[in-house]
Amino acid sequence: MGDPGAQPFPAAGEAGPFDDGAALPGITVDDLPDGLVVADQDGRIVVFNTAAARITGLDRQRVLGRPLAEALPLEDLEGRRWWTLTDPYGGLYTRVGQPERNLLLPGGHEILVSARYVRAFPTGPVLRVVIGLRGTEARRRTERSHAELIATVAHELRSPLTSVKGFTATLLAKWERFTDDQKRLMLETVDADANRVTRLIAELLDISRIDAGRLEVRRQKVDIAAAVRRHVESHVATGQRVERFVVRVNPHLPDLWADADKIDQILGNLLENAVRHGEGRVTIDVDPVRAQGPSAPGKPGAVMEGTAVTVSDEGPGIPEESMNRVFTRFWRGSKRGGTGLGLYIVKGLIEAHGGDIAVGRAPGGGAQFRFTLPVGTPAALV
Ligand SMILES: Nc1ncnc2c1ncn2[C@@H]1O[C@H](COP(=O)(O)OP(=O)(O)OP(=O)(O)O)[C@@H](O)[C@H]1O
Ligand SMILES: [Mg+2]
Repeated sequence: MGDPGAQPFPAAGEAGPFDDGAALPGITVDDLPDGLVVADQDGRIVVFNTAAARITGLDRQRVLGRPLAEALPLEDLEGRRWWTLTDPYGGLYTRVGQPERNLLLPGGHEILVSARYVRAFPTGPVLRVVIGLRGTEARRRTERSHAELIATVAHELRSPLTSVKGFTATLLAKWERFTDDQKRLMLETVDADANRVTRLIAELLDISRIDAGRLEVRRQKVDIAAAVRRHVESHVATGQRVERFVVRVNPHLPDLWADADKIDQILGNLLENAVRHGEGRVTIDVDPVRAQGPSAPGKPGAVMEGTAVTVSDEGPGIPEESMNRVFTRFWRGSKRGGTGLGLYIVKGLIEAHGGDIAVGRAPGGGAQFRFTLPVGTPAALV
């Protein structure tokens, strides 16, 4: 402990109540990532750790020994003094603490505060008030990203709906004035835009499942090479030239236990991207791999067997500086892009299987997406 102000746990001169710390020798209150403030039975601050000093911007030496209400004059968002309001020492004797609250220090500095009242015995006098402090930055950041997501979604929904509304209103008002061909064209646009909204909503539902970690993987034996061929056939059936696709499957693939619907979704997105955003020939390679599973800090992941699928095209590719952004929500490289959710979902689906995906440059110069999936275990054996 280089800092002369650092407090051992138990705090200096405060041996008694903190003696349980003996089971964890050498641990100090300054090791805590969150702010910790302890006031004694008279309401004077006896512990004020490093994180508390950082979060409040107060000097430890100036607050130690001073009354809580004076050294840490917290107010709620309506400007009421929190210590007067909650009155830990004189308030309800059944109260055991305060849940986390967003409070302000003078100057409008926001902190998240929770408190526990340690009593001599249940309903007895308060021996100590233990207060936890947290900065609000992390929470602010997630709130901001939620707000941004809502704004983007609203924007994405508005443009197709504007067109649906515009065309239906025009048709209803002036039905007789249009020829059958004109009406058909308008209805086709309405139909396409309605499809766009439906697809966007399906993607948003996937995203909410991915973000909440609620994605269910129902494993069954999947013939991924057959799935690749099926996707290629459906592109050919809808007008792509058959020469545009090359499928190369290694004959020695291990069995793969995965969620067939999700594999279809992954392949569908990657092939659609290669056809829509790429150009030239689309090559799909399916190979066995010895993949490395997820690693923990300082511990490399276990080596496991799996399957790798590589989708390469001969289009413009992804610019080097954008490669780390292609898997983020709503990122799209050009005007031709869709909603920019496809690859985010693909990554989420692959990771739910314990696999991973990377983007690079294809030998022919286009984009190359390569994902690996561990062989998995049949659902019945999990
Ligand atoms: N094979 C590719 N070649 C060039 N650019 C690509 C390729 N695949 C993806 N991209 C770029 O990455 C962006 C994001 O792709 P992503 O699949 O996430 O969204 P999208 O295809 O635009 O929309 P969505 O899939 O939601 O309909 C695309 O808009 C495109 O600019
Ligand atoms: Mg896409």
